[in-house]
Parts: sequence; C-alpha cells; structure tokens
Amino acid sequence: MTSLLDVRDLTFHYADRAGPVRAVDNVSFSLASGGSALGLVGESGSGKSSLALAIMRMLPTNVARYDGEVWLDGQELLGMAENRFRQEIRWRKLALVPQGAQNGFNPVLRVGEQIIEPLVVSGAAGKREARARAQELLAYVGLPADVYLRYPHELSGGMKQRAMIAAALILEPPVVIMDEPTSALDASVQTQITNLLKRLKQDMNLAIIFITHDIALASDLCDDLAVVYAGEIVEIGSAEQVLLHPSHPYTQRLLASIPRLHSDTLPQFIPGAPPDLREPPAGCRFHPRCPLVFEPCAQKSPPAFEPADGQMARCWLIEDGSG
Ligand SMILES: Nc1ncnc2c1ncn2[C@@H]1O[C@H](COP(=O)(O)OP(=O)(O)OP(=O)(O)O)[C@@H](O)[C@H]1O
Ligand code: SF4
Ligand SMILES: [Mg+2]
Repeated sequence: MTSLLDVRDLTFHYADRAGPVRAVDNVSFSLASGGSALGLVGESGSGKSSLALAIMRMLPTNVARYDGEVWLDGQELLGMAENRFRQEIRWRKLALVPQGAQNGFNPVLRVGEQIIEPLVVSGAAGKREARARAQELLAYVGLPADVYLRYPHELSGGMKQRAMIAAALILEPPVVIMDEPTSALDASVQTQITNLLKRLKQDMNLAIIFITHDIALASDLCDDLAVVYAGEIVEIGSAEQVLLHPSHPYTQRLLASIPRLHSDTLPQFIPGAPPDLREPPAGCRFHPRCPLVFEPCAQKSPPAFEPADGQMARCWLIEDGSG
C-alpha cells in the first residue's frame, strides 16, 4: 500500500562552532492516509521542531547536513527544485502551524488579510471569494465573523491559535504539521483546540502530524505515536501499542512520569538530562539515563526492531528477547 506521506532516513544537522548539532538523525515514518493523526512526542530539545522544518524545507542558513527522502502522494520533495516546491507543495499540499504561532501574525495587518494572502497571491481566488472562504474557515474553527477585520492584538491566545489553524487550511492542504499548537494555552482552551483538531481530521479528511512534549495529550488525538529522543525516533506504533505495550525503556519512563488520578503510584521522573546534540552519546543515545542499560548499549546504535506487527523500537533488549 502506498502512503500519503513517507519520510525516509531524514537527517538534518545544524552547523555550530562546536560541531554539527545532530537535531534529526535517520528519521523514518509514514502517514497512511487522510483522516488520521500521528503524534511526535519528545522532551524539549529532542529535535521535533527541526524535523517539522526539515519536512517543510524551511531551513536556516546554518545547515551542516540535510538528506533523506520525503515522499508526498508519490512525489519526492527533497530533490524538487525550490521554485516548484514553493508553487506546488508548501502550504498547498503540506502546511505547518509553527511553534509559538500565536505570535506569528503581523501586528499591523488585520487577521483576515493575513489569512487570505496565499489564496490571493497565488491567484487561486479573487479577494471576494477568498474572503468568503476565510470567513467559512473562521466559523469552522469557532471564531466570530468579525475576527476577519480585527488586528491580532484584539484576539486572546486561544483565538490566535484558532486563527492560525484557519490560515494553515486556506489552501486545503491534505497534510498539516501542528507544532505544539496548545502548549501556551490553559487546560480548558487546550481541550477545545484538541477537539477542533479531532473534528478537522474527520470532516476534512486531514492528515495531521501533531508535535507535543505531552504524551497524554497526544494519546487523546492521535492514531499513531512516534517517540522522539535526542534527534531519533526510538519507538513508533499505533497509539494502543505504544501506550499499552511500550517496548522502549524511554517510552516506558515517559509513561511512568504521567501523574494519574485515583492511583497510589506516584509519577516517576526520568533521571538525568537529555544529551547535548553536538555530542550525543555513542551507541544508544539513551544509555546514560537508561535503568536497563547492558553490554551492547554504549557500543552500538540499536537498529529498528519490530516488537509487534506495525510497531518499531530501537533497543537492544528486543533483540535480546527481554524487551
Ligand atoms: N538554528 C539553529 N542552530 C543551531 N542549533 C539549533 C538551531 N535550532 C535549533 N537548534 C538545536 O537543535 C536541537 C533541537 O531543537 P528543536 O527546536 O528542534 O527541539 P524541540 O524538540 O522542538 O524542542 P522544544 O520542545 O523546546 O520546542 C536543540 O539542541 C537546539 O538547541
Ligand atoms: S538499547 Fe540499551 S540503553 Fe538503549 S534503551 Fe535499550 S536497554 Fe536502554
Ligand atoms: Mg519545538
């Protein structure tokens, strides 16, 4: 079966005076079709935003290494000429709601003008048609019609996030990457946005890549979960597999760190700190913090093992039979 989006061995390093920052290393995953969400979950600094930027080809000037393949609907995107990528792919087929998007609006332009800009600039619609489409989208994301004429400072954080989601959808892309769309919002607004994303994936048959540090939040929305540690995906599978039968010790620790209501077990925190990606540990990058570390872990990087059908984890315990 061909996938809608197929990311293969994507690697993206930043150049830094002290050496390359290995923010994304050999990352592979697929989104089978629309109407589904994949959660990319990991601690701060694990490379989640860098991965989003690498897929979108929105790279800074200090790139040290950028390779791999990204296939969208049968087309390879990394080798495509920038002009063509800009005209045919970015925002049209693949959109991003960037981290901190609430602050992404230009403060001196009205919200509506900013939402319709790509539609008008690309010539896909006249101003009147674009406005009607934007107002339809604003209503869909739960905003009053007059938001179209307001300035960004006249919206709350939650409203700005909804408006940003509407802006990402204006060209009807089949795939949208949402980078921490709820992290700056209070719990009730967070739930409203998550519910909106659930509706979006169903009603618009949207494929969503949902980036978060909160595995509990991801489990509410996502059909599949990928756990990111120090620039690598260490485990991926259906949400059920990853939540109920986590194979990688890091995933197990992440789940044990969630506070639970009505439970006598206290949350357990992961000891130590994530590694410096300029000099990640040799072998398994989690080995300095892993309670189950054993002989091969510091020597050799674990390959992708398949603990169950459709589940992948990079841990020597799986080969060893005890994972
Ligand atoms: N332009 C840059 N140049 C050099 N290093 C960078 C650059 N941008 C990010 N990094 C580094 O790349 C690593 C991954 O950063 P990234 O922002 O992708 O992590 P993240 O998982 O999105 O974190 P967070 O949860 O805090 O948003 C970090 O070590 C970060 O310091
Ligand atoms: S490979 Fe070794 S160090 Fe890494 S997670 Fe598995 S047991 Fe722990
Ligand atoms: Mg980030």
